[in-house]
Amino acid sequence: MTLRHRFGIMLVTLLGVGPLMVSSGMAADGGALYRGKCAMCHGPAGAGRPGTFPPLAGRVGLLVGNSDGKAYLAAVLLNGLHGPITVEGQSYKGYMPSFRALSDDDIAAVLAYAASLGSGGTSAGISAQDVAPMRGTPLDVTAVQAKRAALQASHVIP
Ligand code: HEC
Repeated sequence: MTLRHRFGIMLVTLLGVGPLMVSSGMAADGGALYRGKCAMCHGPAGAGRPGTFPPLAGRVGLLVGNSDGKAYLAAVLLNGLHGPITVEGQSYKGYMPSFRALSDDDIAAVLAYAASLGSGGTSAGISAQDVAPMRGTPLDVTAVQAKRAALQASHVIP
């Protein structure tokens, strides 16, 4: 191998590793993620659209205060959710896509941002450690719905 080759490989290695190191040092921006990936359906302030997209404002905040609630939120983001569901007496039969392509950090950050929205908003934490255990076991829609029904039955969410 010539010296020039070796230098070329070194340069490729440096260029490849550089951006990775930079991005792992940056905290995920939940607000930017929300505006880019959620606001088009749930609205910029999380108000939703009655009968089509359920409101998140004041509701995600209730869920992050509860360990089963956090697991449910992670399950929705990782697996998606299809109706029918009832939210504050209104029925929805929509389709929420899966965001499994996002990292655990990004999912936690976007959920923390959603939890801060609305009058019932909270800064209660949700972290990558709450998301990671849910990634290993993909859930079908019936299983995600069952988690939701349990939270409604125990009045964590109305
Ligand atoms: C394409 C539209 C769409 C996008 C984009 C979307 N959602 Fe949803 N989301 C929905 C729909 C529709 C439902 C309700 C599904 C149903 O009817 O079962 C839902 C449900 C939810 C729920 C469950 C609410 C509850 O009361 O149980 C949460 C939490 C949620 N979305 C968060 C998010 C977050 C965070 C993002 C961005 C990462 C996002 N959604 C992006 C359409 C969307």
